Amino acid sequence: MEKKPPNVNQQFFMVNNILVIRHRAKALDILRSSSKPVPIKTLAGELGITRVALWKLIRKLEELGYPIQANRDGYHLPKEHDPDLLCPWELGPYGSRIEWFFKTSSTMEEAKKFFRLHTPSLQKNRMYGPDSKPFYTIAETQTMGRGRYQRTWESPLGGIYLTISLHRNVPLTIVGRYPLLAGAVLVETLHTLLPGSSPASFSPSPAIHGISLKWPNDILAGKRKLGGILLDMEVEGDMVTGIHLGIGLNVRNRVRDPNAVSLIELFGHFVPTRREILLQYFRRLERALKEPYLKTAIPLWKRFSSTLGKPVRICFPEGRRAGITGCTGIAVDLGSGGELIVQTADGSIRVVSHGDCY
Ligand code: BTN
Repeated sequence: MEKKPPNVNQQFFMVNNILVIRHRAKALDILRSSSKPVPIKTLAGELGITRVALWKLIRKLEELGYPIQANRDGYHLPKEHDPDLLCPWELGPYGSRIEWFFKTSSTMEEAKKFFRLHTPSLQKNRMYGPDSKPFYTIAETQTMGRGRYQRTWESPLGGIYLTISLHRNVPLTIVGRYPLLAGAVLVETLHTLLPGSSPASFSPSPAIHGISLKWPNDILAGKRKLGGILLDMEVEGDMVTGIHLGIGLNVRNRVRDPNAVSLIELFGHFVPTRREILLQYFRRLERALKEPYLKTAIPLWKRFSSTLGKPVRICFPEGRRAGITGCTGIAVDLGSGGELIVQTADGSIRVVSHGDCY
């Protein structure tokens, strides 16, 4: 889906002012709940602001890409032109922890830059610390989206491109649980929002649309890639102090790779808005992230796995030049840090901590 970029000069938007977020959220709520134009007097009254302040607010929303129509009867946002942006005022209680870009190189780089720059003020606002809540960096589109092993991640409008940043103090040995949890909770969320997307409910042909997890961090629909998770971290000694989880999900965007797919291709008009997906996802994820050692990550990942119990071939892309090949066998289990346990043809066990799985 190719949308026109909004007429916004600044590519970056971080709203510190909670009131601005509230006003924009409420104005959009009111406009969305009415099929007719909302009179200016009513809108200004409900927001508790003057007509001039309302005019400014509407102009700002227009600049940001909301095609709000103004006429004698008031303001109207036609449902079919709602841009479904992922800005702070669209994401309810998470709005004050969101940094939003219409276009940027990569949310991974932005998230790391933001964390380094803002650590002192985040500390002051209790948004930084071992039990702090996640911080989200979101882009509508990325020019240099990055996948695992420095591969390109195509990021046209309509997809979800997000980095979840966490300040934690956890041993390096368990950090692999974080991307597993992020993937498992995302699949769980999609199963709830898209009835019929769980492989079990998709008989007689579960391989077609069933959304599942492929080790280590792929989200599949049938056999095609729907999304992926990337892990970057900040390490001190053998402890991890900062975790950045990059999530890419094909929602309404077109995909060019024949081995990839988007939700809209599979589920058409049943696909919820991107903001509904993120609101549900954040709610579930934040609940699961409360426990820093993430003991639930592996059991939850196993529930949605399409890797375990199957024959696999593991390749190490970075070892190819050095002549290091992978291994083949049956994926029998996950280790406590998210490693794949593979039983080879001669019965021996290999514990694989990274690589591509086919
Ligand atoms: C993979 O499967 O290779 C992981 C893909 C991760 C892509 C996401 S999109 C948001 C974040 N920013 C990036 O540049 N990459 C991740």
